[in-house]
Amino acid sequence: MGLEISSPIIVGSCGLTSDIETIKKIEKAGAGAVILKSIFEEQILNETSNNVRNQEFYTFPEAYDYVMNYSQSHAVDKYIDLIQKAKQTVKIPIIASINCISSAEWLNFATNIEQAGADGIELNMFLLPSDVNMTTDDVERFYEDTIRIIRRAVRIPISVKISNHFTDLAHFVQRLSLMSIANINIFNRFMMMDVDIDELKAKPAHITTNKDEIYETIRWTAILSNVVKCPLTAGGGVHNEADAVKLLLAGANTVQIVSSLYDKGIDFITECNEFLAQYMLKHKYNTIEEFRGKISLKSNQPSAFLRVQFMKYFSDMK
Ligand SMILES: Cc1cc2nc3c(=O)[nH]c(=O)nc-3n(C[C@H](O)[C@H](O)[C@H](O)COP(=O)(O)O)c2cc1C
Repeated sequence: MGLEISSPIIVGSCGLTSDIETIKKIEKAGAGAVILKSIFEEQILNETSNNVRNQEFYTFPEAYDYVMNYSQSHAVDKYIDLIQKAKQTVKIPIIASINCISSAEWLNFATNIEQAGADGIELNMFLLPSDVNMTTDDVERFYEDTIRIIRRAVRIPISVKISNHFTDLAHFVQRLSLMSIANINIFNRFMMMDVDIDELKAKPAHITTNKDEIYETIRWTAILSNVVKCPLTAGGGVHNEADAVKLLLAGANTVQIVSSLYDKGIDFITECNEFLAQYMLKHKYNTIEEFRGKISLKSNQPSAFLRVQFMKYFSDMK
């Protein structure tokens, strides 16, 4: 994002980053930057217009009531206060985060975030492409329109956090990266869904990621790092110190961690930094740039490479 950071390990948006004392610990543990817990579009709209728009969006029973309750007053003031306090307390960059489902009037709030002193804004665009009436173009236009409007509203760098649910992921990510944004963060993760077989109800599955999710992140980092025209943050499934090195080798500029901090504690950041330093010493690298992207899929045909791997390993397995 054009920000100077002392480590490529950054802490992603989550509950831990909504508390000043924890942010202090995160800095002390050696994180390069911190992305604050997201403020939701609904929270902003509820205060600015005293009305949560997109009411028709919440057709699920009780969802609208929940959202109205969740977006109680003062969320906006509290968020601005969090940014200001974080900026006064720590030296590492503070990135504010907005979780949005439309490109509506909440966008004005971005200016408040900038004025509060945030070093950047991350947009977590939360659109699961599940509406049969929405085409690929409609979905992608939402991302582009939102970026265009917010880019006009603020001067601080903008990071865009996306999910991997796109038909033309590589093409789309490249298009986004050409829109004068400062960073792309892969991946945003939707709540996992499970089923209560006795109550006959849908229920949320585990909230944190597991260690196997890293492989999907490695694959896409290796593919996308060669097509993006802006820096790339990779995250999702970093549960082992070596995972951060793997993502840098795949071409990430920064590596984001969240779940492992819940599982192992904030010290995991220090362990990742120490492992990275040891790795660089072992391989005689003086800078990250000397090895970043070394295993990215440089060829024009990563799918051919991955197809051959599939044929080689899956078809031979007895
Ligand atoms: C408890 C929890 C809260 C989260 N809250 C947010 C959030 O407010 N905004 C956001 O963009 N991502 C949020 N995330 C997603 C993380 O930032 C991250 O993208 C995801 O957990 C994958 O990274 P990980 O494998 O290191 O956990 C949250 C994740 C967890 C586990």
